[in-house]
Amino acid sequence: MKPVKVGLLGLGTVGCGTVNVLLRNGEEIARRAGRQIQVSQASVRELDKRRNCPTDGIALTQDSTAIVSSPEIDVVVELIGGHDPARQLVLQAIAAGKHIVTANKALIAVHGNEIFRAAREKGVMVAFEAAVGGGIPIIKAIREGLSGNRIEWVAGIINGTGNFILTEMRDRGRSFDEVLADAQRLGYAEADPSFDVAGIDAAHKLTILASIAFGIPLQFEKTYTEGIADVTRADVKYAEELGYRIKHLGIARHAENGVELRVHPTLIPERRLIANVNGIMNAILIKGDALGPTMYYGAGAGADPTASAIVADLVDVVRTLTADPNNRVPHLAFHADALSDLKILSMEDVQTSYYLRMRVHDRPGVLAEIAQLLASQQISIEAVIQKEPAEGENVVPLIMLTHRVLEKNMNAALTQIETLESIQGKVVRLRMEHLDSDWK
Ligand code: HSE
Repeated sequence: MKPVKVGLLGLGTVGCGTVNVLLRNGEEIARRAGRQIQVSQASVRELDKRRNCPTDGIALTQDSTAIVSSPEIDVVVELIGGHDPARQLVLQAIAAGKHIVTANKALIAVHGNEIFRAAREKGVMVAFEAAVGGGIPIIKAIREGLSGNRIEWVAGIINGTGNFILTEMRDRGRSFDEVLADAQRLGYAEADPSFDVAGIDAAHKLTILASIAFGIPLQFEKTYTEGIADVTRADVKYAEELGYRIKHLGIARHAENGVELRVHPTLIPERRLIANVNGIMNAILIKGDALGPTMYYGAGAGADPTASAIVADLVDVVRTLTADPNNRVPHLAFHADALSDLKILSMEDVQTSYYLRMRVHDRPGVLAEIAQLLASQQISIEAVIQKEPAEGENVVPLIMLTHRVLEKNMNAALTQIETLESIQGKVVRLRMEHLDSDWK
């Protein structure tokens, strides 16, 4: 049978990784797919640039539209990233009857509903394993491996750059900016690294995970997003003294009154496996009602790991080229006409435990005043540490952990606490989750 012809939009880190993996493992990949997979065209910004992969046999062009409309191409692999022109090119390719493989999480999270609709009308596949968790086959695991479960929650470290920064701050006391510069040099960070730091990249990925876990449309705009820029070394150290690690988590939870979709720094008990996922690695913990908790761990970024996911998608596309489009695995795991309109909760309606750090005057009655304001909002304290004042100072750090409470109650309590004369400055507030298997 003649090889399946692939057109790459973009031949940077991941594009070259894909070419290298297809060349290196071509024979085994063909034995799995049933046909050879050949990259025959690629669009690039500069034709003469030195690349990390051989380009013999690949027609290079600066015109991506020529690839998406080329009669020779069966599958378009979109590796440009971002919204437009990636969105227009993908829609043009679909209109021309091409199958799509993409690593673009922004594209799927924000424009996925539109893209999947167009793909269904044309009977083509859009595969996006590489968009979440780099090389970890998490989309396939949820969409197929867990399809017998009612998924209760998903909690993941899904941005490698952010995890690398938090790990280096904790383990080596390195500064935020220095570690971010390393992540950029190593090719892990997004083209705009503020996407990593501000949590937007993780929010894109969480949006996708939540859709396939709960059978809801993609709703990036409703995902609460908080980055890691305000996490200080002091908080990392105090959390550790209390037996917790601070991780930047994406959490999607099917609660009784709706769905929680939230990305924020989170204290988790240090004994949890996921608390020990360090550096650039990603991990996604999923609780299914039948299976219980499972964790998926691996490289969340980088040329070969991301290529591993792209090539797996190519194999899936090739295997189903001749299958009836109505009997393929649905893009978002659930059939398009069976998606549910479950409400996405606002943060005020989310319940979590909290870590609070404040600077207080060291005198009698201060702790009682704070405890009383917390109690007035039904907030129960789990632990308290008060540090020694620095030489000649009368203001000390006071750290508290609380039990679970609605965020609106915590907001009300903090507003009152911050008006106390005995408190200096703002209260630092981080959310805390125990992620135990009883959490529903
Ligand atoms: N910037 C992303 C990360 C790359 O650091 O996880 C992989 O999506």
